[in-house]
Amino acid sequence: MDRFDLTGRTALVTGAARGLGRAFAIALAEAGAGLVLTDLPGTADLEVTAARIEALGRPVHVLPQDLSRTGELRGFADRVRAAGPVHILVNNAGVAALERFNEITPESWYRVMRVNLDAVFFLSQRIAEHMAADRVAGRIINITSKNALVAEAGLAHYNASKAAVDLLTQTLAVELAPHGITVNSIAPGMVHTPIDGEFPFDREAFEAAYRERIPLGRYADPEECTGALLLLASDAGAYLTGTRIVVDGGVLADQMPRTRFMPPYRSTLTTETTETTETTETSETTETTE
Ligand SMILES: NC(=O)c1ccc[n+]([C@@H]2O[C@H](COP(=O)([O-])OP(=O)(O)OC[C@H]3O[C@@H](n4cnc5c(N)ncnc54)[C@H](O)[C@@H]3O)[C@@H](O)[C@H]2O)c1
Repeated sequence: MDRFDLTGRTALVTGAARGLGRAFAIALAEAGAGLVLTDLPGTADLEVTAARIEALGRPVHVLPQDLSRTGELRGFADRVRAAGPVHILVNNAGVAALERFNEITPESWYRVMRVNLDAVFFLSQRIAEHMAADRVAGRIINITSKNALVAEAGLAHYNASKAAVDLLTQTLAVELAPHGITVNSIAPGMVHTPIDGEFPFDREAFEAAYRERIPLGRYADPEECTGALLLLASDAGAYLTGTRIVVDGGVLADQMPRTRFMPPYRSTLTTETTETTETTETSETTETTE
């Protein structure tokens, strides 16, 4: 387990006030890292995350920044570095809007692109320069989405931004490899966070319908994405670069939920018991299904 230990390293996590960003920051602190947390100025919940890190006894700095102001990101990265070298950058902050393709305004398109893509590029550019100059074994981890790989209606800008970050991840991985910096992405599926809080839809009905499409049968909690993060952030993942870890409960593995239309189980694999060794293929007791 020593290979997952992050003692003495510093991680910058964007969008750290809530949701996945908060879970990532806490997991990194639990593994021993010090943290620099950022989110939109005036986001009170950023202090809540900071308090959780402090309670773990790790150093934490809070530096609010509107990441959509891409012209400010060099200066922001330099202020982060003033607190010490950054070893791990987690580009987590993201925004989404549920809008039909033909109704997306230039304002909405560029808002999503600036936060989800442009900020990832410009922040990574400056932080990578620092990592190389500080000769740290840097780790850049971009939080994309299953929507980087398969489209979802009503999210043209979001899907495009995440797919772009996916290829950006590969490109940076190749360009930064000579500097000992790895670059990877995590593509979550459906996670319980406030991200779709402003979507004009019935959240509960949508979740109930979506659950049917998820082989594991449920949304993830943010903490369930932290294992992938700790692997990519630590020495345990030193040979991983230019790749992605999909954390989606199996959604992308299944093009159609066919099992719902199949006949009941005949085999020893039932949904009702784990004592499969005591059953046979012909046993009536195993002919159960949901
Ligand atoms: N929740 C999901 O189901 C899901 C699925 C796949 C991918 N993701 C991705 O995970 C990441 C985190 O999402 P989440 O679900 O925790 O969302 P969230 O909305 O709960 O958190 C996102 C954070 O980013 C911050 N942020 C937004 N715009 C910003 C800006 N201009 N400058 C600085 N900070 C800004 C927000 O204030 C917020 O704290 C996002 O990139 C999202 O696209 C989420």
